[in-house]
Amino acid sequence: MRKEVALLASEAKEYFLMHKNIRVCLMQISDEGILSNVRRNEAAAAHFPLGGQMNNMRFHDWWRDRAIPKSRHGAKTALQRLGYSSTSNALVNNLALSLSDCYWIMPRGESLTWEDANLFTNDFVDTFGDITLNRDHMIDLRKETRFNCATSQGELQKKWCIAKDGRRYMIKGNYGSSYQQSLNEIFASSLHEAQNWKQYTPYYPAKVQVDGNREGLGCMCYDFCSENIESISAWELLQTVKTRQNESLYYPLRDVCLKLGMSEKTFTDFMDYQIMTDYLLSNTDRHMNNISVLRNPDTLEILGFTPIYDSGNSMFYNVPYDQLNFVRFDSIQTHSFIEKEVRLLQYVQNRNLFDPEKADLDFSIYKEDVTENQIRIPKLRELYLRKLEKLRIFQNGKDIWKTQGHR
Ligand SMILES: Nc1ncnc2c1ncn2[C@@H]1O[C@H](COP(=O)(O)OP(=O)(O)O)[C@@H](O)[C@H]1O
Ligand SMILES: [Mg+2]
Repeated sequence: MRKEVALLASEAKEYFLMHKNIRVCLMQISDEGILSNVRRNEAAAAHFPLGGQMNNMRFHDWWRDRAIPKSRHGAKTALQRLGYSSTSNALVNNLALSLSDCYWIMPRGESLTWEDANLFTNDFVDTFGDITLNRDHMIDLRKETRFNCATSQGELQKKWCIAKDGRRYMIKGNYGSSYQQSLNEIFASSLHEAQNWKQYTPYYPAKVQVDGNREGLGCMCYDFCSENIESISAWELLQTVKTRQNESLYYPLRDVCLKLGMSEKTFTDFMDYQIMTDYLLSNTDRHMNNISVLRNPDTLEILGFTPIYDSGNSMFYNVPYDQLNFVRFDSIQTHSFIEKEVRLLQYVQNRNLFDPEKADLDFSIYKEDVTENQIRIPKLRELYLRKLEKLRIFQNGKDIWKTQGHR
């Protein structure tokens, strides 16, 4: 008898993987979230996640990647309605719902629809009050949300909320005790605004409560997705092709985007601008999950790039104050197409997509930081202006990565 109960408990349950209301496959998911027995619905093959189309191994990776749900608190209400009690498996408990795309899972035998379950139109537990947004005024979210400040996980703390007007927004926290990552997001927004570049995600400062009931600072941005627009990462797009180890992923990504119907100009213009502004901000984290494209989930049409997001790991956020004097531009490493930051500029085809005359930014936002704020700001400014000068030289035709002793 006991044995039987144990067997039942560990038995995998069957789920449909859904794209809105389309059943793209039937699969088993164990209590630990492991997939097995995937049976694809060939009639809906085009709606199968791009990242898993090549083979089942890649599909398992796609699923694992989703396993830290983008909205941990997501579908609790839907689940309660369904009578699920377990909170141990966050992914399954959330029905794998996300605020970045339209995939989710439905337990076989249930008759839940996308309209019942999705987080874009259904309330979820983190429903908070009104926030009126104004770039100059900080939003006070202290009563609305609580963060654990220092995390040992690989990701910053994040939380999805609903504003009174129904818009979904994400709050991001910081690593450790500095707030620079959040401030960098806001600083980057001010650069794109000054450049009059439309394709960026605006970030706003937000007061949040951190460990020990202290007031802390995070940032927030509105959801760039909806029921009609989903986001697919470059990482996922690259799962549709074979790439060689150590190969720069720039050209494979371009090929995939073009194959999906994006124009070459859309691709290069966006990349050119992003590479140049990332260089200026010393953003070292433009990896393949920080670049995405937008897609219409119904027609599957690619709508262009996702507005620039996640520029937090920039502006020497991880360089202690006393090391800022020794930063060498020629040895900055990035997690992007290639390791050496300055060499990313090689990909730029139209150097004029960035306007150095519109890059004189206000650094006072950095005064909000708790650590080293006053003494750090002039140093950050100096480094930024030196980078701007490098970009000017680059725009005048010089291939600055070729310069010996480029500092
Ligand atoms: N405004 C947004 N709307 C929808 N999805 C978003 C938004 N911002 C981020 N995401 C999704 O959440 C993921 C994590 O967000 P990101 O800002 O990159 O955080 P992190 O600093 O932890 O990498 C992104 O890769 C993207 O898929
Ligand atoms: Mg990111």
